[in-house]
Amino acid sequence: MARIYAVGVGPGDPELLTRKAERILRQVPVICAPAASEGDSSHALSIVEPFLDRCRQEVIVRIFPMKKDQEGLDEFWEDAAETMVSHVRQGKDVAFITIGDPFLYSTFLYLYRIFRERHPDIPVEVVPGVSSINAAAVAAGMPLAAASERVAVLPATFEEEKLRQTLLDFDTIVLMKVNRVFDRVHALLKELGLEGCCAFVSRAGTSKERVVFDLDSLAGKKLDYLSLLIVKKTDT
Ligand SMILES: C[S@@+](CC[C@H](N)C(=O)[O-])C[C@H]1O[C@@H](n2cnc3c(N)ncnc32)[C@H](O)[C@@H]1O
Repeated sequence: MARIYAVGVGPGDPELLTRKAERILRQVPVICAPAASEGDSSHALSIVEPFLDRCRQEVIVRIFPMKKDQEGLDEFWEDAAETMVSHVRQGKDVAFITIGDPFLYSTFLYLYRIFRERHPDIPVEVVPGVSSINAAAVAAGMPLAAASERVAVLPATFEEEKLRQTLLDFDTIVLMKVNRVFDRVHALLKELGLEGCCAFVSRAGTSKERVVFDLDSLAGKKLDYLSLLIVKKTDT
C-alpha cells in the first residue's frame, strides 16, 4: 500500500540529509513542501532540490502560516493533509519534507495528528533529520551536554516566569523561535547575568550561517526566523 513519509531534511546543507532521506526523496512520485505564506519559497524544498527530478516527480507546495496562536489555522493543515491523502489513495507514495527533524517543533506534527485520527489505515513512516539544534551547537562550538549536565529546549516565546526558572535550573538552554522576542529574552539574560555565555545562531548548516556572541549588537534588529539562542553555563 502507498504510504506517507515525513522526511526530516536537516538544517540546510544538503550533505546533512540522511542517506535514507535522500533515497526516499529520489524515489517517491509526490513531494509535499511547506511554505510560510503565498509567494514564499519553501526552505525545505530548496534544501532537497538537488535530489529531485521535476520531470518525473510532482512537487506540491502548501501554506503553513507561522503564528504562535494556532486558532483559525486548522483549514491549512486539513487542506495539506487531504491533498496528500488523495495521492496516497491513488496508490502514490507522498513525502512531506520538513526542516530539521520531523518530531521537533515541526509543521509535520499538525498533519500527523490528522493522519492518525482520520486515516489510521494509511502507513506513516517518519525519517529523522539532523536538527537545527545540533547544527547550531556545532556552529557555535558549544557542546550541548557532557556527563550529568542537563539540557532544556523550549520556544523563546515561553511565558517569562517559566523561562526565567528554566534558565536558572538547567546547564544548557536552547531557545527556539527567538527572532520576534529577542529583546525581551536579552533583557532577562542580562538580569540573570547570563548574557556572556550565549550564542545566537541563524541559518545554521547553510552558506548564510551566522554566529553572534555579542548579544548587544543584535538589540532592536529585525532577526531571521531561522535563528536560535544557546545559553551554556558550563565550559565543557
Ligand atoms: C518550526 S521550528 C522547526 C525545528 C526543526 N524541526 C528542527 O529540528 O530544527 C523552527 C525553528 O527552528 C529553528 N531553526 C530551524 N532551522 C534553523 C537553522 N538552520 N538555524 C538556526 N535555527 C533554526 C529556529 O529557532 C526556528 O524558529
